[in-house]
Amino acid sequence: MHTDLDRLRTEYARRRQSESDKALYSTFNPAYLFALQQRQRATIQMLRRRGLGSLAGKHILEIGCGSGGVLLEYLGYGTTAASLAGIDLLPARLIDGHHRLPGLALACADGQKLPFPSGHFDLVLQYTAFSSVLDLQIKANMAAEMVRVVRKPDGLILWYDFWLNPNNPHTKGICPEEIKQLFSSCNIHLRRTTLAPPITRRLVRVSWILCELLENLRLLNSHYLAIIRPN
Ligand SMILES: C[S@@+](CC[C@H](N)C(=O)[O-])C[C@H]1O[C@@H](n2cnc3c(N)ncnc32)[C@H](O)[C@@H]1O
Repeated sequence: MHTDLDRLRTEYARRRQSESDKALYSTFNPAYLFALQQRQRATIQMLRRRGLGSLAGKHILEIGCGSGGVLLEYLGYGTTAASLAGIDLLPARLIDGHHRLPGLALACADGQKLPFPSGHFDLVLQYTAFSSVLDLQIKANMAAEMVRVVRKPDGLILWYDFWLNPNNPHTKGICPEEIKQLFSSCNIHLRRTTLAPPITRRLVRVSWILCELLENLRLLNSHYLAIIRPN
């Protein structure tokens, strides 16, 4: 039987070979750089509002870490490599991650069954892993595992994912209602972020500031950033 996880493996094998995908997600692409920097600012703002001035000493796990781009960002937030961990379903992506971040604890695992004890992490991250899963039960299982491994009562889950991406049948945007269902036992604080990438691609070479202004209006934003605190 062809499962959603088989579909995901095939899709990412295709993307790994795709030159246009590599160009889209390169920091030398101004539209991607803009989105990345805006997301970092929004993340730091949100963490600061939760009283976190640094992530030093925090144990952090990313579910669906791919080739480690997000973990690399978190290394800049006061953490050390020893306190970061990532899991992903796809060995090829993890091998890329090992080359990029030698020594970091990256493991091949399914987010539905995390190989960690309960309450092990101060911060559990998910950046666009959920939108790459189409099966509702898999998403529910992943959310339950994230809640299980986060430390209670002070640990946090940080969510960054899009709610709208009509052009890609291999992804499904996730609205606030679905986030609330997935984490129904938790307190959730959400904000919209990220100017929709098709708009950024058109405008950023003309005016970076215009993109910032449009992003701050929130109306044209394609993603949600959320801080989720298990009760
Ligand atoms: C769009 S990529 C995001 C990668 C990374 N978080 C980033 O933002 O650079 C989604 C990743 O989620 C992973 N993923 C999806 N479902 C998963 C599951 N059930 N268990 C582990 N990883 C999963 C995919 O293999 C893929 O690497």
